[in-house]
Amino acid sequence: MGFSPFIFILILTNSAVPAGDKHKGQNRMEHHTDRYYGDGLIIRRGQIFMMWLDLSRPYNSNTDRLHLELRTGPLPTVAKGTHVIIPLVEELEDDRWEAKIVQRDGNRLKLSINSPPTAVIGRYQLTVATQSPKGEATSTHDPGNDICMLFNPWCEDDTVYMDNGDEKNEYILNDVGRLYYGTENQIGSRTWNYGQFDKGILDACLYALEKSATPPSGWGDSVNVVRIISAMINSPDDCGILEGNWSGNYVGGTSPTSWSGSVDILNKYHKDGGAPVRYGQCWVFSGVTTTVLRCLGIPSRSVSNFNSAHDTDVSLTVDVYFDEKLESIDHLNSDSIWNFHVWSDCWMARPDLPPGYGGWQVVDSTPQETSQGTYRCGPASVNAIRNGQVFLKHDSPFVFAEVNSDKIYWQRNLDGTFTQIHSEKNAVGHCISTKAVGSDERNDITDLYKHPEGTEEERIAVETASRYGSKPDAYASPIAQDVSIEVTMDGEGPRMGGDAELTIVMRNASSLPRTINLHSQVAVMYYTGVVKATVKKDQIPVELLPNEGEPLGNVLCCIYLCSSVRQCYSLHAQVFLIPSPPVGEAVVGKKMAAEISFTNPLPCTLKGVVFRVEGLGLQSVRQITVG
Ligand SMILES: *[C@@H]1O[C@H](CO)[C@@H](O)[C@H](O)[C@H]1NC(C)=O
Ligand SMILES: *[C@@H]1O[C@H](CO)[C@@H](O)[C@H](O)[C@H]1NC(C)=O
Repeated sequence: MGFSPFIFILILTNSAVPAGDKHKGQNRMEHHTDRYYGDGLIIRRGQIFMMWLDLSRPYNSNTDRLHLELRTGPLPTVAKGTHVIIPLVEELEDDRWEAKIVQRDGNRLKLSINSPPTAVIGRYQLTVATQSPKGEATSTHDPGNDICMLFNPWCEDDTVYMDNGDEKNEYILNDVGRLYYGTENQIGSRTWNYGQFDKGILDACLYALEKSATPPSGWGDSVNVVRIISAMINSPDDCGILEGNWSGNYVGGTSPTSWSGSVDILNKYHKDGGAPVRYGQCWVFSGVTTTVLRCLGIPSRSVSNFNSAHDTDVSLTVDVYFDEKLESIDHLNSDSIWNFHVWSDCWMARPDLPPGYGGWQVVDSTPQETSQGTYRCGPASVNAIRNGQVFLKHDSPFVFAEVNSDKIYWQRNLDGTFTQIHSEKNAVGHCISTKAVGSDERNDITDLYKHPEGTEEERIAVETASRYGSKPDAYASPIAQDVSIEVTMDGEGPRMGGDAELTIVMRNASSLPRTINLHSQVAVMYYTGVVKATVKKDQIPVELLPNEGEPLGNVLCCIYLCSSVRQCYSLHAQVFLIPSPPVGEAVVGKKMAAEISFTNPLPCTLKGVVFRVEGLGLQSVRQITVG
């Protein structure tokens, strides 16, 4: 049609509003996306948004036809929801893509547009097509008019709907949080800058989704998106965001303890074209996971579990093997108990599970075990974990073992078989912690994950779960325990550079004399439970070389005591943390001078000291070399 087709210049969504920049403001305020960096149209699904179209002449509703088209992903397809055709209608109905004219102003039309609460999230290209008796026209794609669609916790029909306003403020809109670490007796905390609204972060999150090479048609399903994110946060098998390293040598990368937020990591990943960022450990994996989920609109929080088991053989028990002389058999002891482990919880309905399993779901991005061939874990329903229903997907057995497995000690017999010599029912899953809503306090959420220890519900949960594990008969007869051992540490526990004093109390509950052999071992270990060096009974000092085992962060000691009372055994392990120096609280919103002083508690001079300073949301990381 050669002559004067009708129309266009489209526009705008955000900016081209007759009276200045009002709309961007209005859409983004109403969609709770006003804090995202930049001025693009960022909206949430299942909620009406406004847009102005600028046409080449006034619209005539008798003869003109008009519709909008949105396309996302490499192969937009109408049937898969990645190519959306939005018709003009008289009245908007819920749950569908539709547009309605709400105002006319000369050549301009103001549209009110609705999207379904199941829409695919991500970046859409917008075009407008017009038809009139004189011809047809389609606007050309202008990246400035792209629409970014997010999940909508404010929409009742969205799977990620969360009704409590304070919780939404915390789990979606708060860009700063606290991460907990250390040991259950000495819980440390640090501020983490999630920074989900910072410059580049939304782009980096969408980039990671694209890099996953999963079809965008699946990005409307929150369970699926969480599963993709869990896989993309870690680097193995898919060029994900963060490379893990627990070696103590972080040359050529950033030590996991040096990060103070997710922003640098995500921006670096995007800038480097998807090369994994070095290095992360569990709290870094969790911090970045929480950022990405909040950024995409899924309520989430980082959660720390103390005495977190890592069950390598799906037995749902943590097995510790000793030889005939009660020396540990290292090559068999692949299960471990981490002093702490950090993962993320995300909030959503679970239409893929029977009713009752929606709410908080565990997503653990630290690469530990593969799930269906890929390093990822979750989402696993916290309600299912609490009840031991480990047959409910995804990866519930692994998460269950982290919080509620029994620790079972085995001793090798002369014929090579093993006998269970002791089991600890309350060895793992303590003080499960997350930042409280609306305050900087620690909130203990162990009750969400476990029935109270010692209750019948808790035993039923453990036994239900273990029936689905690889050692369903692990629950052998109980063992007599008439001698108990307790190890306590005086005062607040050890300080770095100071002496640690331990009291070992043994109690004899039997009416008979007991002869006790006490085997003790003191070891220095990483928070993962990996022993770095053994300090023998006669107190041989351990030397930590520079860069080894993060001297300011996570120096831990572990004491194993193993006693034999004729044929009865009792074991006890205790771990304590030597805390790192606390740093003062930041004050936001005001220019201020801060003086930060550090005291070196070590009896030697520190050399090559580097401070990393980050202004949360204001200034990215700066390194200050002190020498
Ligand atoms: C950890 O980082 C160091 C230093 O870059 C590297 O030599 C080592 O191979 C890494 N270890 C693992 C397990 O990737
Ligand atoms: C255990 O208690 C019995 C009875 O009081 C006593 O005879 C025995 O010496 C005690 N054994 C130990 C090791 O304390």
